[in-house]
Amino acid sequence: MRKQTIAFGGLVLLIIGSLSLAACGTAETEEQPGPSAGDSAAVAETAGLPVRAPQGPIDEQLASRGAQLFKERGCVACHTIGGGRLVGPDLAGVTDRREFEWFYHMVMYPDSMIQNDPEARRLFAEYATPMTNMNVAQDEVVPMWEHVRLESSKGVKGASQ
Ligand code: HEC
Repeated sequence: MRKQTIAFGGLVLLIIGSLSLAACGTAETEEQPGPSAGDSAAVAETAGLPVRAPQGPIDEQLASRGAQLFKERGCVACHTIGGGRLVGPDLAGVTDRREFEWFYHMVMYPDSMIQNDPEARRLFAEYATPMTNMNVAQDEVVPMWEHVRLESSKGVKGASQ
């Protein structure tokens, strides 16, 4: 009699166990928007920006557009990427030193950055020239970032030319 109860108890446990396993299974499939949950985390990271920070491997097509923009927008007058300091700092590795968001703000609103951001103020103190607002369009910042990333990864001298 006692043995039977134990066996019965075991059976009940088994049933409960498989039920809860099944429940777990459904919960997992319901949660499956895992990848898009990751996406929304990436969006949240740059929540204040109208564009998304580039992620993953360098997009060479964007980078070559960025190279062109660097000339069109006059960045090359004051910056090299790996060719040393000009009017402004050498931008080699800036994409590792800075968050995309910071870079975005520096390129779009250098004046307010120099006034309000401690790092930009420090650079201004060092370079003694304010970076000029070059009227860069929102969607031009990502290509520029990719260009800097690509040239930085090459470590080529005068790469911004
Ligand atoms: C008139 C010269 C000038 C031009 C043109 C210019 N910059 Fe700058 N830039 C500077 C100076 C000088 C600094 C250092 C901060 C300061 O003194 O304002 C700087 C800082 C920066 C920084 C931060 C560097 C670091 O080490 O953190 C980035 C990024 C940057 N510039 C990108 C650009 C891009 C992209 C363009 C083209 C749209 C551009 N700059 C055009 C002069 C210039």
